[in-house]
Amino acid sequence: MAREFTSVGVVGLGTMGAGIVEVFARNGIDVVAVEISATALERGRATLTGSTDRAVAKGKLAEADRDALLARIDWQVGLDALHSVDLVIEAVPEHLDLKQRIFAELDRVCRPEAILATNTSSLSVTEISVATTRPNQVIGIHFFNPAPVMKLVEVVRTVVTSADVVADVEALCARLGKVDVTISDRAGFIANALLFGYLNHAVGMFESRYATREDIDAAMKLGCGLPMGPLALMDLIGLDTAYEILDTMYRRGGRDRRHAPVPLIKQMVTAGLLGRKSGRGFYTYERPGSPVVVPDEHTPVSTGAALADGARAIAKVGVVGSGTMATGIIEVFAKAGYEVISVTRGAEKSAKVCEAVKTSLNKGVVRGKLSEDDRDAALGRVTWSATLDHLADVDLVVEAVVEELSVKKALFASLDEICKPGVVLATTTSSLPVIDVAMATQRPADVIGLHFFNPAPIMPLVEIVQTIRTSAETAATARAVCAGLGKTGVVCGDRSGFIVNALLFPYLNDAVKMLEASYSTADDIDYAMKLGCGYPMGPFELLDVVGLDVSLAIQRELYLELREPGFAPAPLLEHLVTAGYLGRKSGRGFRDHTKR
Ligand SMILES: NC(=O)c1ccc[n+]([C@@H]2O[C@H](COP(=O)([O-])OP(=O)(O)OC[C@H]3O[C@@H](n4cnc5c(N)ncnc54)[C@H](O)[C@@H]3O)[C@@H](O)[C@H]2O)c1
Repeated sequence: MAREFTSVGVVGLGTMGAGIVEVFARNGIDVVAVEISATALERGRATLTGSTDRAVAKGKLAEADRDALLARIDWQVGLDALHSVDLVIEAVPEHLDLKQRIFAELDRVCRPEAILATNTSSLSVTEISVATTRPNQVIGIHFFNPAPVMKLVEVVRTVVTSADVVADVEALCARLGKVDVTISDRAGFIANALLFGYLNHAVGMFESRYATREDIDAAMKLGCGLPMGPLALMDLIGLDTAYEILDTMYRRGGRDRRHAPVPLIKQMVTAGLLGRKSGRGFYTYERPGSPVVVPDEHTPVSTGAALADGARAIAKVGVVGSGTMATGIIEVFAKAGYEVISVTRGAEKSAKVCEAVKTSLNKGVVRGKLSEDDRDAALGRVTWSATLDHLADVDLVVEAVVEELSVKKALFASLDEICKPGVVLATTTSSLPVIDVAMATQRPADVIGLHFFNPAPIMPLVEIVQTIRTSAETAATARAVCAGLGKTGVVCGDRSGFIVNALLFPYLNDAVKMLEASYSTADDIDYAMKLGCGYPMGPFELLDVVGLDVSLAIQRELYLELREPGFAPAPLLEHLVTAGYLGRKSGRGFRDHTKR
């Protein structure tokens, strides 16, 4: 029979601890909430009451339930108050010596049968456990931020944690309405091991001014469907905590350079810019602890007038290509009121593209998203052509032909001869250097990347890729065009993977390496990222959808351009591709799709 937990203790009521107290008290368990000082205790209490009051205001918690919840909490300064609890969860700052000191003290204060748990994100649970005389009763219970919301708990068992303790804690997680994954004691466990390399990389992009904070965050939210961008997430985690986690992962996790904290993080911590909890981190908040972002000196001016500033007028757009992207892009421009000339390599291809655009627009009508008149008007704006000469008087050309540099270069050289001066020439390439395409023309200042996402009519993001030769006027035009299409345009430099792929694929590759190392299963890794970090799909689900061959090709490009050893494609990914396991499209990838 599983052990009955009637009262638990929580030590440290900061970002995590206050949320963990709420989780227990909400589920009918008495909590002794402990802090180091009366001031810190008050702060913790204020965080918790703020959170429960918000839940009441939103109608998610009845007032009477809130009052009952609060009545279950005993607020105390000092560890002595924990003498009779069944379980303690420690959530103090991420320093090994501090945690070891607290565990030695808990060992002295708590009943001999009490379980002692740490919420550490990256430190060794084993090293913490040996500070006690009961390492077999020490375990990691890693909640996710915000603890009352995120469903996942990573249960970390060391080589000495007793099986009973693991089973009791798993049963407790179920009682709390959480989903647990039980794993061994490795730096970063599942979720943080996959998350923090990505977060650090995003901070590196910001530090090197590769893109703005707003654009990096918007790219990951809109391009991957993540609940928040990486810099906003760093602010939520707390930069001091994030620094310690990265530093520990670097030292414990094989000195992977991708975990060496980007210098800016340390500078911000030193300057007191800790994120939401201090009211300022990458963003500025209404007040310390508030989730509400307020404008500051770095907030871009995004009014229509400012966006159009310096932009050339665009009325007529040429779209070259006949594949999925070209078809979607024609639809996007036509619906937004632009006159479009579609150019393919023959009448037959033109007919196919025309049919595909019609089918897609008709779907919009059937779903009630588009009126018949608007559909007809959009189609009426498109001219179907099989010769590039028809692009002589367009204002913008969007190239979406096959992803081969020689083909794109030849096309841009032809466009250079055909198009009028002042035209903006855009490529939709997702992996080739835009500058190579630009230099195939005599007008590199007019060339830019417009990286649409698939399906273009639905995905709200466009990466605007500026080369070192792109003029400010061309970039302003691209921004205005994206706004005109109702898309969010994010501006970045001309580096492999731009923003989204450069941040996404190394994370997917890391998940494959984790599976290959037999640390966890594909199912648990997928759960961890969905339930712990709110990702819409787990890494293996996503890899099977994107295609393992496509993912491998992107990862190889990143590795070749950036020469980052940690970006080397996972051997397992290479083997699966060699074996023809390409994901959904071939019926089998990480999972077998023929049986579903
Ligand atoms: N922030 C996150 O997103 C996150 C997520 C999961 C796990 N964690 C882990 O949770 C732990 C706490 O992180 P946090 O972000 O909540 O930190 P935090 O800095 O927000 O809070 C730590 C709290 O511990 C208190 N404290 C310090 N010394 C103490 C002592 N001797 N006795 C009692 N209280 C003491 C501090 O006053 C502070 O309120 C860390 O191990 C961290 O790695 C953090």
